Amino acid sequence: MNTLNIGLFGCGTVGGGVYRILDAQSGGIAAQTGTRLDITRICVLHPDKERDVAVPRHLLTTDGDSILDDPAIDIIIEVIGGEQEALGIISRALVNGKKVVTANKVVISKYLPLLRRLEELHGGRLFYGASVCGSVPILKVIDETLITDRVRSLRGVVNGSTNFILSRLAEGSSKDAALALAAANGFLEADPTADLSGADAAHKLSILAFHAFGRHIVPELIPTIGIDLVTAEHVAEARARGYTIKLVAEALEIDGVLKLSVAPRALPDGDSLASVQDEVNIIEVVCDGVGTQRFTGRGAGSLPTANAVVTDLLDILADRQYRRRPAQRGAEPEKPVEEENLVAA
Ligand SMILES: NC(=O)c1ccc[n+]([C@@H]2O[C@H](COP(=O)([O-])OP(=O)(O)OC[C@H]3O[C@@H](n4cnc5c(N)ncnc54)[C@H](OP(=O)(O)O)[C@@H]3O)[C@@H](O)[C@H]2O)c1
Repeated sequence: MNTLNIGLFGCGTVGGGVYRILDAQSGGIAAQTGTRLDITRICVLHPDKERDVAVPRHLLTTDGDSILDDPAIDIIIEVIGGEQEALGIISRALVNGKKVVTANKVVISKYLPLLRRLEELHGGRLFYGASVCGSVPILKVIDETLITDRVRSLRGVVNGSTNFILSRLAEGSSKDAALALAAANGFLEADPTADLSGADAAHKLSILAFHAFGRHIVPELIPTIGIDLVTAEHVAEARARGYTIKLVAEALEIDGVLKLSVAPRALPDGDSLASVQDEVNIIEVVCDGVGTQRFTGRGAGSLPTANAVVTDLLDILADRQYRRRPAQRGAEPEKPVEEENLVAA
């Protein structure tokens, strides 16, 4: 029986879920694939803190370097969050030829071309299905089943926290009550800025656009409006006229120009995005050949997100890797990243 050793960085909401799933499923995975997935080291900040998941203390360390430089570790899972430290972990693991799975939308949306290059140069693998819409395998669908089609547009509700808040407002809650309930249910981070400002949705949209249109638009250049200024009164007024306010991330290609945006939109009753409630995400993709398809599911939470990480591990076992969709611009040559970004505005 083949064994792949995993170094897990982070054992919080997502990392704890990954440990839990692999602890329960690694026997079944081994029986099905002939390969055992073994978490052999776990890097955290506070090894002695109490955790929801029963992790043996001897697996925990604060010494990330010893994991990244250990040739016996085959796969690195990065679920610490943040930007620079996570970027360092992912890039060093790739340079060391390791396979990497991450749920980090900030790092992936900003540095995807660089990381894909490191993957190519050093023969590693990089998967990040969990970074976009948790349990919804949207990157896989775009990558595998829509690869021969031409994507014309995509739009979606891709941030569970704000959708939960807007759902409560639509039921008549005050904004303070909706925010408090979102926090109590674990849908808001201690610093909710990235969710409320729309930045989190912009990160996901950037990754989606990379896969759907073959173009890297850094999230900072995506025109973004969050729900900070949306009030309970706005939502009630919209409801009275038969509209629902949702935070919509949208990418559409018009005459070879890719336009991306994130903004609260009043959607008429009957719009498929309008009926998606709570922390659930939805993405609608319109292609030339297959027409319109919609994908929906839980976009966050420990097990839905951890499940996406584990399915990426299974893709590593199957020796898959993401394809690179050529930029959809007819015969026009691909432009350098900086110039590409101008079309986002
Ligand atoms: N939560 C979700 O539903 C969700 C959904 C999709 C994507 N994600 C992404 O998944 C990632 C992790 O999110 P999370 O919710 O699991 O975060 P979290 O609950 O805050 O857990 C973070 C973990 O990372 C560890 N950590 C933090 N900084 C570290 C460092 N410098 N070195 C080593 N370990 C460090 C922490 O250690 P201690 O435990 O010792 O403090 C903790 O175990 C983020 O990129 C997030 O955007 C999360």
